[in-house]
Amino acid sequence: DWNTEHIVEELVEGVRAQVGEGRVLLAISGGVDSSTLGLLLARAVGERLTAVFIDHGLLRLGEREQVEAALKPLGVNLITVDAHTEFMAALDGVSDPEQKRKIIGREFIRAFEREARTHGPFDFLAQGTLYPDVIESAGGEGAANIKSHHNVGGLPDDLQFKLVEPFRTLFKDEVRAIAGLLGLPDHIRMRHPFPGPGLAIRCLGAISEEKLDILRRVDDIFISGLREFGLYDGCSQALAILTPIQSVGVMGDERTYSYTAALRAVTTDDFMTAEWARLPYDFLATMSNRIVNQVHEINRVVYDITGKPPATIEWE
Ligand code: XMP
Repeated sequence: DWNTEHIVEELVEGVRAQVGEGRVLLAISGGVDSSTLGLLLARAVGERLTAVFIDHGLLRLGEREQVEAALKPLGVNLITVDAHTEFMAALDGVSDPEQKRKIIGREFIRAFEREARTHGPFDFLAQGTLYPDVIESAGGEGAANIKSHHNVGGLPDDLQFKLVEPFRTLFKDEVRAIAGLLGLPDHIRMRHPFPGPGLAIRCLGAISEEKLDILRRVDDIFISGLREFGLYDGCSQALAILTPIQSVGVMGDERTYSYTAALRAVTTDDFMTAEWARLPYDFLATMSNRIVNQVHEINRVVYDITGKPPATIEWE
């Protein structure tokens, strides 16, 4: 509508005024905020934007391709970096959730720093900081902490940039409206949040390529199913978890001893508290059948019926 167009014009003018002839670096996570920011900056400064998307190997099925397909045709100068080998090596044998987060954060900064030097020099670093982030970081911990891995505060002295944060006064729904106007496809625009550490914190315990591959296929069946049955937008977040539990099952005449996958879907306003989503039994039955039929490494599927608190949304 007119109001959104007006906001976009103002943001574009604001960025141009701040950046001048400078060059801007942006980390793309694949989420709505950084993707929208990429589109906005491309409109404002064109080729003087370099957007870096680090594929840490912990993304969902087809995610990297979706992000590339959404941003490149709209003029975003996007560099995709396949860093999965480094991340996997650093995470080898690590089972503690906080340790995983720390390692992923550290590796992310290392990879991002390398790209900044390769493609630089840059004058500005753009961040998709929203108004609620501004409020919460003023209060201390909270979202600032949760977002720490995309919050590139840990860069060395010779890589200190001025910050460009055009969304500092905006709420999420306003960013979504802007995204629509800028042409971001709906599957990214209306996407559930996805944590920076990605599938690493949904693959419980020590991760491996094999386990990530199993989880990726389970997650894809569940998320595609939610979309197919028109249930996706009614959930605030939905996810699949690969547990380390192996249990006995039966397949034909054979006994199996395979993994248990868990499905979780929640509704929430602020992600601080959440209710488990009352998904229809028939839908859950369909998901369970599809998963055990298509993912042979899984012989049992459970649905998480715990609220937050006491459970968190993620399992790690
Ligand atoms: P929990 O599991 O704490 O999650 O109920 C609340 C929201 O935060 C997301 N989350 C993260 N996001 N890095 C992120 O960028 C993280 O380490 C992280 N841990 C949790 C989670 O997906 C949910 O939306």
